[in-house]
Amino acid sequence: MNEIKAITDEERDRLIAAARAARPQAYAPYSHFTVGAALLAEDGRIYSGVNIENASYGLTVCAERNAIGAMVLAGGQRIRAVAVCTENGVTPCGACRQVLAEFAPEGNDVPVWMIDGAENTRTMTLAELLPDDFGSRHLEA
Ligand code: THU
Repeated sequence: MNEIKAITDEERDRLIAAARAARPQAYAPYSHFTVGAALLAEDGRIYSGVNIENASYGLTVCAERNAIGAMVLAGGQRIRAVAVCTENGVTPCGACRQVLAEFAPEGNDVPVWMIDGAENTRTMTLAELLPDDFGSRHLEA
């Protein structure tokens, strides 16, 4: 049974600050759409990522998935919260929702904060963003 630990205001503020700080590092020469993402891992550490584009467009990797890579490399396997900073405050793309869900606690009750360039913030849970997700439990036939 996974115990869901509430996110404190301090943790949320640190997470959003990390996503905001990451965003200028984005490599987005083709779309010019820069994204900074940050994950709060189970151990309280924060991992950031930015989108990294490629001249072969389909090889682009989103900020959220690069942040997941940073967390896994450091030994983290569980996310408690996510923040994504963009110019217009959009939600994570479908592929990133699925990858985030892989590392979310059962129930996907993970808050995702979306922040725009004017600092407007809104939040949804990962379960709201990806209802009825496909997960490892479905492979246990
Ligand atoms: N992008 C992300 O980094 N995260 C998302 O959830 C949506 C899209 C990036 C990919 C690409 O570099 C640019 O935004 C435009 O699609």
